[in-house]
Amino acid sequence: MTQRTFAIIKPNAVRSALVGEILRRYETARLKIVGAKLLHASSQKVAGFYAEHEGRPFFPGLVEFMSSGPILVLALEGENAIADVRALNGATDPAKAAPGTIRHAFGPTMGSNVVHSSDSPESAAREISYWFSADELFSYEQKSSVADV
Ligand code: RTP
Ligand code: MG
Repeated sequence: MTQRTFAIIKPNAVRSALVGEILRRYETARLKIVGAKLLHASSQKVAGFYAEHEGRPFFPGLVEFMSSGPILVLALEGENAIADVRALNGATDPAKAAPGTIRHAFGPTMGSNVVHSSDSPESAAREISYWFSADELFSYEQKSSVADV
């Protein structure tokens, strides 16, 4: 089933020039970019995004980290996009992430694990609309190569 998911390339990955490498992995897995923005989120914006974790010990550090510099927010579309992007990202703790995953390759720690993606259709819908307005999202026929465009 074609579905959309939401992903973030976190501030440390943007700072470390990993945007191209991470997008290449998503695009190679046949995910289409239907929304993309580089932005520097306020701590309030990040806290609202991670509201489900409010009160947990790691919450203040998570908010500080995620608002420490520009992030790339993404809406991605494809067959089983939600599970596929989480599989490409790997386990939340990079030390436990499987070889071949983004978090295994780039770590570095649980609190700064380079990427985020939605964990369910409900989260995906909420997270896409939290970061994107309708006119910032696109859809297009799937083309197999640039020559088909
Ligand atoms: P994500 O949302 O980023 O894809 O990660 P996730 O679903 O695998 O993990 P989640 O439980 O939603 O936690 C969100 C982010 O909070 C940080 N975290 N730190 N130190 C800790 O115990 C801890 N637990 C979670 C991680 O950066 C995680 O991605
Ligand atoms: Mg999560």
